[in-house]
Amino acid sequence: MAADNPFVYGEIVAAGAFADRDEEYHRLTTDLRAGQKVFLISPRRYGKSSLIRRTLDALAKERVLTVSVTVAGSSSYVGFLEAYAQTLLAADTPVSRLRQWAADLMRTFHPEVTIDASGPGTSAVSLSFPAVRSSRDVERLAAEVFALPGRIAAARKRPMAIALDEFQTIASFDGGNAVEEALRAAVQQQRDVGYVFAGSEPSLMERMISSRRPFYKAGPVMRLQKIDPDEFATWLEARFTKTGLRAEAGLGAALVDLADNVPYDVQRLAHETWDDVRAAGRKTVGLEDLHTTLTRMMRQQATVFEEQWQRLTLAQRGVLRALVLEQGRELLSADVRQRHRLAGASSVQSSIAALVREDIVMRDGPRYMLTDSLYREWIARRTF
Ligand SMILES: Nc1ncnc2c1ncn2[C@@H]1O[C@H](COP(=O)(O)OP(=O)(O)OP(=O)(O)O)[C@@H](O)[C@H]1O
Ligand SMILES: [Mg+2]
Repeated sequence: MAADNPFVYGEIVAAGAFADRDEEYHRLTTDLRAGQKVFLISPRRYGKSSLIRRTLDALAKERVLTVSVTVAGSSSYVGFLEAYAQTLLAADTPVSRLRQWAADLMRTFHPEVTIDASGPGTSAVSLSFPAVRSSRDVERLAAEVFALPGRIAAARKRPMAIALDEFQTIASFDGGNAVEEALRAAVQQQRDVGYVFAGSEPSLMERMISSRRPFYKAGPVMRLQKIDPDEFATWLEARFTKTGLRAEAGLGAALVDLADNVPYDVQRLAHETWDDVRAAGRKTVGLEDLHTTLTRMMRQQATVFEEQWQRLTLAQRGVLRALVLEQGRELLSADVRQRHRLAGASSVQSSIAALVREDIVMRDGPRYMLTDSLYREWIARRTF
């Protein structure tokens, strides 16, 4: 039987498709096991959710009760509280026992639990708090929901590990600081419950843990970096080889480089290249294949990229092109501005700020980079 494509992108990757990150994985596992409250911060698509999944899977094998919720999945504060309460109560609870369990644990507001068992195999559970009306009610509900993990851990006599992903969304719920305060106050008392608060908007997340904010010094902060490029390259080549495609020397490194070492982009390019080479019935894969695939992908995205480019102001286009050609460095310097005929430093700065706001550009340490490496290639080759 022909092997399946070993590269996965656009979803949380399971252990089998997960490269490196051993150190981060061990740190996070140890911290959560110890009941720490960890902040996990990185730009988008670096692999936070995948790291969390791997960590929680490992902890679940040690009988830790694990729960994972994406805060950004909720459109309001109450919606989040309902989703959070539901996930907490449903963890390791048979559907038939859910109502009783919820009634036992939730004392102030009794949740309404609806169970739709009409689907095949699984039953859809949904929980709501119809009695919650005023903002005072919401506050009391929040206090109760945030206290749930402690009660569950005690009732079950099991430690818990909770992941709140896209945590920066918390700051946008009405209530603002009060939401963070209520959560911080609750988690602080739960010694048997480890938390990881993960966020993909580094500036927002950094602000949440700054002084004068409730989560200041709440626990260790992990800033997820890119995967070690050499290890990633070796890992990529090994996966080509394992599925019957001999990788030419330098292929892994070129993949990592072309994709700016953003894990998502690396896997996307590897996945597409693998498909193309396999479709052509070949047994080896080299740098030329990489470029053929890259060109095909760019062609397929051309309309989208053109539209995106048209939407920019002339000043932004100039800055973006300079950013690509200069690898995102020293954009404010007189030298770079002159070379690319850019306006004054403050104008360049506001163009960069707009590009960051539009999620076209992100910061990577001292330099700026494009969030999409394919768009970067398109700009380098197709614009003037
Ligand atoms: N350790 C890893 N090894 C290999 N590929 C990875 C790894 N981590 C992430 N990836 C790749 O990056 C993609 C994005 O990963 P993930 O969704 O975990 O990132 P994220 O930081 O949670 O992103 P977002 O901020 O958008 O939620 C995955 O689909 C996968 O292709
Ligand atoms: Mg994620």
